[in-house]
Amino acid sequence: MSNAIERTASAYSREHADVYDVVHAARGRDWAVEADNVVRLVQERLPGARSLLDVACGTGAHLERIRFLFPHVAGLELSDAMREIATRRLPGVPIHPGDMRDFHLDEQFDAVTCMCFSIAYMQTPEDLGRAAASMARHLVPGGVAVVEPWWFSEQFLDGYVTGSVAERNGSVISRLSHSVRDGRATRMTVRYTVAESTGIRDFTEQEILSLFTEDEYLAAFEQAGIRAEHLPGGPNGRGLFLGVRD
Ligand SMILES: C[S@@+](CC[C@H](N)C(=O)[O-])C[C@H]1O[C@@H](n2cnc3c(N)ncnc32)[C@H](O)[C@@H]1O
Repeated sequence: MSNAIERTASAYSREHADVYDVVHAARGRDWAVEADNVVRLVQERLPGARSLLDVACGTGAHLERIRFLFPHVAGLELSDAMREIATRRLPGVPIHPGDMRDFHLDEQFDAVTCMCFSIAYMQTPEDLGRAAASMARHLVPGGVAVVEPWWFSEQFLDGYVTGSVAERNGSVISRLSHSVRDGRATRMTVRYTVAESTGIRDFTEQEILSLFTEDEYLAAFEQAGIRAEHLPGGPNGRGLFLGVRD
């Protein structure tokens, strides 16, 4: 049995959400290590920080760790499927539905994070600015923003391909991706094949990730009242923006 479904997504589908953790773990991601690093950066800038909002929290894997390090944590997530997984995983932790461009939670946090390139789903510098402003609005003065960008425009490798295979409870999942430059964005085609006891199925997703420049990110943060710098390198090669709200 094989059925191929193609769709365009920035809010993740149920099929994508179902394989997200196992596929990313097979690609070497360790959310606990990433979370510890983020918390260290926050505490260096704001000793005594006690609350954190994870924007585009996905399946809640970072919060699963951070909830034991800060007394109050919450998530915000656009995709129903990802949010349902996070909610199941984190009983008692509020996981709000919402779009990072425009959300209002009626509370402020000591830290706001937005990890794994989620910010690059913003398709224009205006939307990037809206997302930065929304994050700033939810930070206390002196609060810390940690945002993981996608590749900067000049770094992107046109035609890049990669693949990985993961196993889970007797099923095998492969992920192949092909990325091309499409104007000021990366157009990534990602093909998943899931082999399980009932047969083999495929689905393909198109992801559009904006290739903002470092200066565009910095301008968006500055305009939102966040003084930010880019720390190159980890956790996934694209570095992190680390900022403090005025
Ligand atoms: C690559 S995943 C990252 C998930 C998680 N932060 C992590 O590090 O594993 C991107 C997430 O961003 C979410 N997302 C995409 N656009 C969004 C938006 N405009 N507002 C909020 N979440 C969004 C997707 O639904 C998905 O869960």
